[in-house]
Amino acid sequence: MPNRGSIILFIADGVQGKGVKSLAQLQTGVTVISSGSATCPQILDNNDLSRIVDTSDEWIRTRTGITRRHISASQSLCDLATAAGEKAIANAGLTPPDIDMIILATSTPDDLFGTAPKVQASLGAERAVAFDLTAACSGFVFALNTACQYIRTGVYRRILVIGADCLSRWVDWSDRSTCVLFGDGAGAVVCQASDEGDNILGFEMCSDGRLNHCLNLPFVGQEKKIGSRHRVIQGGYTKITMNGREVYRFAVSKVPEVLEKVLYKADLTPEKIDWLILHQANQRILEAVAERLNIPKWKLIANLNEYGNTSAASIPLALDEAVAKGQIRQGHLIAIAGFGAGLTWGATIFRWGHLSS
Ligand code: UT7
Repeated sequence: MPNRGSIILFIADGVQGKGVKSLAQLQTGVTVISSGSATCPQILDNNDLSRIVDTSDEWIRTRTGITRRHISASQSLCDLATAAGEKAIANAGLTPPDIDMIILATSTPDDLFGTAPKVQASLGAERAVAFDLTAACSGFVFALNTACQYIRTGVYRRILVIGADCLSRWVDWSDRSTCVLFGDGAGAVVCQASDEGDNILGFEMCSDGRLNHCLNLPFVGQEKKIGSRHRVIQGGYTKITMNGREVYRFAVSKVPEVLEKVLYKADLTPEKIDWLILHQANQRILEAVAERLNIPKWKLIANLNEYGNTSAASIPLALDEAVAKGQIRQGHLIAIAGFGAGLTWGATIFRWGHLSS
């Protein structure tokens, strides 16, 4: 298997001779070996929200499946991401200096220049290169797939992938159509090079910027003169705006489609999937997708009842809870799919944990 310093030969199909390895054979495999998560102690339930905007517990529960959400009071994005990362590293039986790279999927960094390097410092992962990746609620899936490419090419062996968001910072708390949906949190996994085959069985990532207007957190600026001859635009970010019906329609059509593509690429049928973990946006979306794929509801992992939509954190948070409960066990086949602003969407199918240990 190639490692640091290995030379990878690209060999076209059909010209492989005996003893000459194909690219697939040369690639290092990847295994997701552990998870961790972090949540906020401050809880905002539906009844609390009904005292803030014109809504009710009944409306929120029946339309979304959400009862409560945890929101940050004093924890920074870095605090949440560090806590989730620390647990994932410890659960892998590793220490922070073992990590080669940290990818932090977030749309709500503490610093627009990137929060991942601060997470690296807080963890004490001194060997790791760290950077942010922004793909909204698809962020964790995109970050996991990105990490896999670095491992497959033999460049890095252990990568910490974190999904963390504090959307409460950017929610319009007077808009009942969005403020009932979101919560804060973080989840993380450690991906490791595997010399016993690849446990990432397939992935797909998509975006369609034509639908960007459906879900936004835009920069809005005003012209400002600097000196007598130049102008710049300065301003800040507004609040989250969303066309809920459009995003709902998009999700129930595109998510089953992308999962079907990944199943096909992985040469799998839906019955083979042990657990389906979708971005925790709305219970109705989760159930519609499972139904389209003929995956029974009991295989759906959902915790949005407790946390709401935590954006990039939602999939690793649900995954970590299911691992901690003993639901997800070594060797289980897991399908994950994210979708959201961009618009972006994507899916990955992987086998959980070390198979040989
Ligand atoms: O992670 C990003 C991905 N985001 C999503 O996946 C969100 C996808 N969309 C959804 O989950 C759903 O569209 C929502 C939960 C956002 C909304 O549910 P809906 O069943 O699509 O409701 P709607 O937007 O069609 O609104 C129905 C009614 C409206 O009233 P009228 O016009 O029928 O009188 C809304 O004003 O419900 C009203 N409404 C509310 N009523 C009480 C909207 N929000 C609320 C609320 N409480 N919080």
